[in-house]
Amino acid sequence: MRAALLLGVDEPLVVETLTPEPLGPHDVRVRIDASGVCHSDVSIATGLVPMPPPVILGHEGAGTVLEVGDRVTRVRVGDRVISSFAPACGECWYCVHDQPNFCERMLDVAMTRHSRRAEGKLVFSMSGLGTFADEMINHEWSLVAVETDLPAEQLALIGCGVMTGVGAVLNTAQVVPGSTVAVIGLGGVGQSVVQGARVAGAARVIAIDPVAMKRATASKLGASDLVDPADGDVADQVRALTGGRGADYAFEVVGRPETMVQARDVTRRGGTVVIVGMPKFDATVTFPAYSMFYDEKRLLGSNYGSAHVRRDFPRIVSLIEGGSLDVAHMVTKTIALEDVDAAFAAMLAGDVIRSVIVPQP
Ligand code: APR
Ligand code: ZN
Ligand code: ZN
Repeated sequence: MRAALLLGVDEPLVVETLTPEPLGPHDVRVRIDASGVCHSDVSIATGLVPMPPPVILGHEGAGTVLEVGDRVTRVRVGDRVISSFAPACGECWYCVHDQPNFCERMLDVAMTRHSRRAEGKLVFSMSGLGTFADEMINHEWSLVAVETDLPAEQLALIGCGVMTGVGAVLNTAQVVPGSTVAVIGLGGVGQSVVQGARVAGAARVIAIDPVAMKRATASKLGASDLVDPADGDVADQVRALTGGRGADYAFEVVGRPETMVQARDVTRRGGTVVIVGMPKFDATVTFPAYSMFYDEKRLLGSNYGSAHVRRDFPRIVSLIEGGSLDVAHMVTKTIALEDVDAAFAAMLAGDVIRSVIVPQP
């Protein structure tokens, strides 16, 4: 198998031929058909979030099952699958309490190594996935089979960006019809929040991003109002659009303390603030104490869109097939495995919503 490896923080990725380990009883060998490049991959490559190299990056993938271990029951050879960066074992405390996004087997899955470099050393794969490759070996808990004819590029995005964004709206915040929703940060995840808000029946979706292309895309995908932070104080701009009150819900989808504070500022009294972005590992954020009580704003974290992946991946597939979610317009370009560094640069420059790797020649 070929995979793009991170060998050290801030180093370019290296595409190498690796030798897969024999399958364990619950392991599955998957041909990767497509993999999205997400901001969290960059955060690991740049050391913002620590993960020990050598590691195969990539956690937003879709593929086809090639081979299964003796005791695998969840998928069969030939199934189309979407990878989940939270395993859903189905049996731990969180899984049985309907919060499989916190599955207690996550660390076991992430720390199990499934392939070797030429000199024999085993390598980690991000979240037990490692989708920047042409194949991967996963625990069956990390895969969800879907029956659909949608292109792999779209299925891949369900594995992180679409699940995280749509899930933040439908699962975490449970936005009610007629609401006003503000979205700060319009990358692959933020565009999915915009679309999730539309699916939830939001009356107004205020999309905020300094990059014009991101705002234009949000407008195509369902935003009703666009805010450029360069045009003045963002909270003032949102209040001007909402009768002076602020939005009913605000979603932070950048991953920075400043925009978390801003998300709270653009929310009306009694409204709901949802933190979706993944910040630097040791960052902290400060909120005004008096207002925490006085303004009764609800502050919610959203981890993987509170995903229940075995329920939600097929549900998202249906929403795409029925035309309620447009994931095709989130795929800016398809690229080869060798182009991931260029895709990181394009993401940081604000040139793409998503680059998607198609590793098969
Ligand atoms: N205000 C509004 N938007 C901003 C600001 C700001 N001050 N600064 C940056 N942005 C925008 C960028 O222009 C970009 O469009 O935030 C967006 C971030 O998008 P991507 O880099 O494509 O990131 P994405 O993959 O969508 O992930 C967003 O969620 O999963 C996490 O780690 C991920 O924290 C990241 C966040
Ligand atoms: Zn991601
Ligand atoms: Zn579990």
